[in-house]
Amino acid sequence: MNVLILGSGGREHAFAWKIKQSNLLNKLYVAPGNAGTAQIATNLNLNLTNFSDVKQVVINNNIQMLIVGSEQPLVDGIHDFFLNDLDLKHVSVIGPQKLAAQLEGSKEFSKKFMMRHNIPTAAYQSFTKATLEQGQRFLETLKPPFVLKADGLAAGKGVLILPTLEEAKKELTEMLSNNKFGAASTKVVIEEFLDGIEMSCFVLTDGNNYVTLPNAKDYKRIGEGDTGLNTGGMGAISPVPFASDGFLEKIQQQIIKPTIDGLKKDNIPYQGFIFFGIIKVGNNPMVIEYNCRMGDPETEVVIPRLQTDLLQLFKDVADQNLKNKVLQIDKRSATTVMLVSGGYPESYKKGMPISGIEKVTNSLVFHAGTKLDNKEVKTNGGRVIAVTSFGIDFKQALQKSYESIHHINFEAMCYRTDIGFDL
Ligand code: AMP
Ligand code: GLY
Repeated sequence: MNVLILGSGGREHAFAWKIKQSNLLNKLYVAPGNAGTAQIATNLNLNLTNFSDVKQVVINNNIQMLIVGSEQPLVDGIHDFFLNDLDLKHVSVIGPQKLAAQLEGSKEFSKKFMMRHNIPTAAYQSFTKATLEQGQRFLETLKPPFVLKADGLAAGKGVLILPTLEEAKKELTEMLSNNKFGAASTKVVIEEFLDGIEMSCFVLTDGNNYVTLPNAKDYKRIGEGDTGLNTGGMGAISPVPFASDGFLEKIQQQIIKPTIDGLKKDNIPYQGFIFFGIIKVGNNPMVIEYNCRMGDPETEVVIPRLQTDLLQLFKDVADQNLKNKVLQIDKRSATTVMLVSGGYPESYKKGMPISGIEKVTNSLVFHAGTKLDNKEVKTNGGRVIAVTSFGIDFKQALQKSYESIHHINFEAMCYRTDIGFDL
């Protein structure tokens, strides 16, 4: 099979690394890819918002499967574009169609879905510019802190948690009247604050059946002790130590099964990953959010633990053949630590030469924001490299990642030294 992966991050490098090991693979392409994917696949320079360009590349390279890494092309309807094009209909697409991608693309859509199917989540109401006044009154009925969510995609920045009523009212006005997040905040969901510890669960579904992948926990804040600005993710651990069998069973029964059944009841086709952002409140799981793709950097710990052939699983998704599939999972823990450019998640420099990657022998190195420049690997993003290691527990795995990191260097390299500090 000829396969094209869309994306350029650590998630896509991890997918490429895994798929490269499959006997089903003929040729592997990644668009646009990075310096890491260039070593194991053919990178294609593509603008992912232009589906006609994607079509040309798919036809020119006789691609049989398209794997969509990130949410934007899915929310923009790339799967629908393929289904509706006579030349592309035969191509298997991993990633949901536009309607189902609304589980991530619209907070209101996902809240309504959860309410309809009795899936535990925070109580909420949504407001527009026309109902701003009612929104302000609703805030007055809630206890602090206040949770405001832009309805649409806002590059992970659309959720605000505000300590005072005054700030919450001001931000609600900014979002609805002054387009703080552009079109994404035309509508705003205000929801009850949930207090608990977060983790993520992942399934791969063909729309009827599903397999559950290893769970993970990521660390989003830039600073030690979960302080400072939100990032795409500074590290991750799999499995999550506090997720007991009993708790995972509750997630299956109360969240995952009702979600898959709900999609079927609502006639919403789904072929791809569902990412469940879970919060443990007391001893019960609740959904913070859905994503219509794998997480990054969670993929860099989840996929290395998967021993089953990932390309075979994707083929099973496309063939509606996931029933009775059992995954083989590495029992060891995996951790990843993200090396980022100084200044990230605010402004940072690009194009810094990276040295020492080849000296790492005890860990997997997944490139996140890198590029090849005259055969030299240089930084090309805020999150630059994810260093993944295995261990009998996450502490041992982490120690290996931190040892491997000492080999790698680029100007103003930063990373968190406290991944897992709260476990
Ligand atoms: P989301 O984009 O919906 O995942 O929200 C981003 C982050 O905001 C989550 O990972 C949580 O840490 C936090 N968050 C979102 N909703 C709530 C809530 N209802 N209560 C507490 N924290 C929340
Ligand atoms: N690491 C969180 C995400 O991928 O959304």
